[in-house]
Amino acid sequence: MSHVPNAGGIPPPVVFTLLAMPSTSAATRYHGFAIALHWVLAVALVGIFAMGLYMADLPFSPQRLKLYNWHKWAGVCILALSVVRVLWRLSHRPPALPQAVTLAMPGWQMAAYRATHGLLYALFFIVPLVGWAYSSAAGFPIVLFGVLPLPDFVPVGKALAEAIKPWHEISAFAMAALVVVHAGAALKHQWVDRDGLLDRMLPGRR
Ligand code: HEM
Repeated sequence: MSHVPNAGGIPPPVVFTLLAMPSTSAATRYHGFAIALHWVLAVALVGIFAMGLYMADLPFSPQRLKLYNWHKWAGVCILALSVVRVLWRLSHRPPALPQAVTLAMPGWQMAAYRATHGLLYALFFIVPLVGWAYSSAAGFPIVLFGVLPLPDFVPVGKALAEAIKPWHEISAFAMAALVVVHAGAALKHQWVDRDGLLDRMLPGRR
């Protein structure tokens, strides 16, 4: 087991105190479930971003409407998986960075490493929720898979929809930029520093 699970009935306040402490765990890799969530969501997020770019340029047509619905359904599924991911992350401390890595990383890189992950987690919620709010404000509530109507949490309104619309795009592009930085940093660790950091997030490696 490569993690410190929230087992043994530890009450939540104690768990959060433990999470704030420096890790003393001997684990060197992320847990298999965290690895699975990382890669499933990575593929899904890259896919839904590409889909968003493609469908936005289509002329008004039944095909465009269909893709918009699929995009919304995929976004809701990604949002649900992100909730699972955050709950898992809060209850399972990630493995401590190897000492060789922390010693080699200047302070700004360590700050960027933490900030990138923190911002990505925030954007996992901001991007789909802003999209959902736009859909509701524009008067097109989400009906998940065409059968389950989801509640609107903002009122219908043209001005409100126009105000929200750019923020879905801006936040999605911010996430894409962070993903480029994040993946680039991971690949630099792999191919330039050769410190094995990527192995922590790959399935089946020791
Ligand atoms: C080629 C693509 C990618 C590579 C090579 C990669 C690699 C990694 C690695 C090695 C880690 C673990 C860092 C550590 O050891 O502490 C990590 C963590 C993480 N990755 Fe990626 N990643 C990629 C794509 C993505 C994408 C597309 C997303 C989401 C949009 C993402 C979100 C995250 C997050 C949030 C963490 C932090 C996990 C945690 O500590 O809870 N990654 N990634």
